[in-house]
Amino acid sequence: MAAELVDSFGRVHRDLRISVTDRCNFRCTYCMPAEGMAWLPRSEVLSFEEIHRIARVLVERYGIESIRLTGGEPTVRAHLPRLIELLAGLGVDLALTTNGATLRLLAHELAGAGLRRINISIDSLRRDRFAEITKRDSLDKVLDGIDAALEAGLAPVKLNVVAMRGVNEDELLDFAAFGREKGVIVRFIEFMPLDAQQAWTNEQVLSYDEIRDRIGAVYPLEPLARTSAPAERFRYLDGKGEIGIIASVTQAFCESCDRVRLTAEGAFRTCLFATQDHDLRALLRNGANDDELAEAVGTAVRGKWAGHQINQVHFIRPSKSMSQIGG
Ligand code: GTP
Ligand code: 5AD
Ligand code: SF4
Repeated sequence: MAAELVDSFGRVHRDLRISVTDRCNFRCTYCMPAEGMAWLPRSEVLSFEEIHRIARVLVERYGIESIRLTGGEPTVRAHLPRLIELLAGLGVDLALTTNGATLRLLAHELAGAGLRRINISIDSLRRDRFAEITKRDSLDKVLDGIDAALEAGLAPVKLNVVAMRGVNEDELLDFAAFGREKGVIVRFIEFMPLDAQQAWTNEQVLSYDEIRDRIGAVYPLEPLARTSAPAERFRYLDGKGEIGIIASVTQAFCESCDRVRLTAEGAFRTCLFATQDHDLRALLRNGANDDELAEAVGTAVRGKWAGHQINQVHFIRPSKSMSQIGG
């Protein structure tokens, strides 16, 4: 029987998010620094075998139940299906968060390797605006990628829409209609102060209340039971599916957080907003055994803080961008 990965507040951690690369084929304005990023050299990125070893230790020793692969953009990592195959062997709920641009080529192979479900980021359904946000004229590719994911049998397909005032707030209803028509779950995400440009202000956050009210006014909604996942879920009263709202800013869900993270260079982090890294790569490459790895992870989690405290005076913005942390 595995021990629990529990912190000093009694929160049990069962969800591991692994960034497989800091690289990305998009340049989202709110994610990448304007001057571009210096990518990690290959030798500093964990190999698939190293990722698998850490994941295995967390599953065997601490009963981790779900693993999500993120980036940067995870699909730019060569041979990603091989990693999926390795991790699927651990018997966990395995998922991927992607910008969707390469799914026409990859979705089938990913599903065949053992991927079950997928989240696709898309912040606009308008070609010009999409290109402005991502700095790539790739809306058609992403839309086609969504179809490819559905055709490959990945289920559910969820769309992540970062809702930003003055950027895409006029598209809430378009996204709702799109989700209803396609049979995908659209999740609206409050914009968090993790932007590489350090340009975030509270005024840009389109709040949970506003999102729910604007959509509910046109398509009546009913709340669904909450899980430990960050999204508040609602179903359409007419039965045409559901939406989610991830209210990280106005209704922080830190008290029920069950997540830990591994960055592409092998740093273990206990929070999306963590200011401290625990270097597992050094341990691995210096020959640590499984007990030592498990002990380092256990110690890091025991020291986890209560929450991010956005909106409080002592909130410290992480110095890393979202693509480096791995959303
Ligand atoms: P599922 O609900 O299991 O499908 O996954 P998810 O919604 O947690 O994963 P996804 O990668 O799609 O993330 C959606 C949004 O939630 C992104 O904006 C993430 O940055 C945000 N998010 C993920 N984990 C955390 C977290 O621990 N804290 C906060 N505040 N936000 C998170
Ligand atoms: N606030 C909220 N969500 C963000 N994402 C990236 N940056 C932010 C931010 N500052 C989202 C991406 C992707 C997911 C991994 O995180 O759009 O869907
Ligand atoms: Fe790439 Fe995602 Fe960052 Fe956009 S938000 S640049 S898709 S890592």
